[in-house]
Amino acid sequence: MCGIVGVTGSKRVLAILTSGMARLEYRGYDSAGIACTEIESGGHQGAASLLWRKRTCVGTNSVARLTAELGDKELGDGNCCQLAGIGHVRWATHGRPDIDNAHPHFDCNSEIAVVHNGIVENYESIKSQLVDEGHKFTSETDSEVIAHLLESFSSSTKEPIKALKALLDVLEGTFAIAVLFKHLPSDIYVVRRVSPLIVGLHNGIGLVASDIPAILGETRQVYSLSDNEIAIVRPDSISIVGEDGEVSDPIFRDIQWSLEEAEKGGFDDFMSKEIAEQPASVADTLRGRITEDGTILLDQENLSKDQLREIDKIFIVACGSSFHAGLVAKYAIEHWARVPVEVDISSEFRYRDPILNSRTLVVGVSQSGETIDTFQALKEARLQGAKVLVITNVVDSSMTRECDAVLYTRAGPELGVAATKTHVAQMAALYLLAIHIAQSKNVLYPEESLEIVNHLRQVPDLMAKTISLQSNIADLVHRLSNQTTGDAQPTGNRCRRFFYLGRNVGYPVALEGALKLKEISYLAAEGYPAGELKHGPIALIEPGVIVVAIATRNRLWSKMLANIEEVKARGATVVIVAGEGDEESIAKADEVILVPRVPHPLLAPMIDVIALQLFAYHFALVMGNDVDRPRNLAKTVTVE
Ligand code: G6P
Repeated sequence: MCGIVGVTGSKRVLAILTSGMARLEYRGYDSAGIACTEIESGGHQGAASLLWRKRTCVGTNSVARLTAELGDKELGDGNCCQLAGIGHVRWATHGRPDIDNAHPHFDCNSEIAVVHNGIVENYESIKSQLVDEGHKFTSETDSEVIAHLLESFSSSTKEPIKALKALLDVLEGTFAIAVLFKHLPSDIYVVRRVSPLIVGLHNGIGLVASDIPAILGETRQVYSLSDNEIAIVRPDSISIVGEDGEVSDPIFRDIQWSLEEAEKGGFDDFMSKEIAEQPASVADTLRGRITEDGTILLDQENLSKDQLREIDKIFIVACGSSFHAGLVAKYAIEHWARVPVEVDISSEFRYRDPILNSRTLVVGVSQSGETIDTFQALKEARLQGAKVLVITNVVDSSMTRECDAVLYTRAGPELGVAATKTHVAQMAALYLLAIHIAQSKNVLYPEESLEIVNHLRQVPDLMAKTISLQSNIADLVHRLSNQTTGDAQPTGNRCRRFFYLGRNVGYPVALEGALKLKEISYLAAEGYPAGELKHGPIALIEPGVIVVAIATRNRLWSKMLANIEEVKARGATVVIVAGEGDEESIAKADEVILVPRVPHPLLAPMIDVIALQLFAYHFALVMGNDVDRPRNLAKTVTVE
């Protein structure tokens, strides 16, 4: 939620800031802004330092507009006089998206510039006190109090570290903050609590970012700040000031992601690139974790068989697409491992007083490892004595520090806001976990589990085949968009209603398909268990409604066909996702999306969901939407 970049010591301060911000637009794009320090023209000895800012607020084009306004010359020629800069892309929480609310925020004298991710929960009381003291506010944000607090604290000490420590004592809530002080023009000060923040150093350039892709073009060596740590980032050094006041050097870790992975690589958008990368995401997530004889190896992830044997209850907690991956896993774990599983929305789990003990395994599923609802839910679970496992795609993310074990997906960076490749990689990791638990508890015969893992190994090829059928889905979307259905025909796609129906593992796929359509096409779509439709929602079925039915074969397939008849009888246009050659399913359809047949029905979600991602993607293109930056959404949500 919101993105931060900072750079000091480069002649390309503006270029590094703006390209980093462009890579962070998946974090927020309501508005964008930068602040920079400079030395007065001429740069003679004793020249005064300057601090300036520039902000834009034009929605999804904010970074592009800002970059254009800064001008090619300043960005490109390497003769710039900026010493240091901080940049921010905003996803509005407090205060509407407009220029005044865009970051960076200044203090009263424009000598301190601040960018902030997160929420200052006690900002109202702080603000009223500061106003009483005479501070002048120019925005409606919670963030602006940080600049004024620092002004207030610095006026007494002039020492940034003391001011930042005082700030930490006062602020409540979550935050990642980067600060420029005019009188220290080469230094960037950063601090965090809960919201992620990394720093890096390379060839005399100091770097700051909320997320890895922002600075991947400059360095692969990064350090993630811990809660309440302060970092002083200079061109040739970074110092970390711990909570206890001790100063230390950061211990950097190596990032394996390549810059190419974080770029579009010839695709029109990140979403289509990431859809195409799904077979590799799953293959990489499985790699090295299955032996010849079908044994799952997760010991190095701290998931030893001994520990798992003890587990008698599993909760999976997650949000959004990760929640849907968790729902798929419930079917697999209960079927293969015979352990009861509950799947919870993180923001509900945390506050609903779940019953946990040391025999409970709580699995947090989160692409980013930062989603605050999931993060706090896991903290709560640990406090109550449960074992906590995190499944995430981001090494060293916040959740990985608050758990007993981590199982990494290996999908590479995902920049499209709507999750695709990380979602299927999560499913792959969860299938591994399900089989691993089953093997630990000896509830599957060796030949049974070998058969399942052999099927799992075939999935990446089947996924690739599904993606190769994409043009059929594009054609189908165009046909549906041009469809007229008589009197009840609503005016265009925007008014159409979609139902996604599935049973068994097809149900979470239906939920995910509907979520994708809502997220990027802005069309009203509801995912439903097909057997439940008759208990209410069937009243909404009429001509003009499009029903997408997941009818690949699982144990409830024949019941699914009966549910399809029910909606057909009421005039819906039925699009059926069916396995190739499945004539019985095809015969029920107005339109068909054919997918390769999957050898094991429990594994079908990894294939079926790709068809629905592509369906939503092509609808979004027809609607003229920006698929990578859908309105109102952010990829990583670090506010409650
Ligand atoms: C946001 C994103 C969703 C994502 C959800 C959970 O809402 O827009 O695409 O599924 O967060 O994110 P996580 O990083 O925890 O998987």
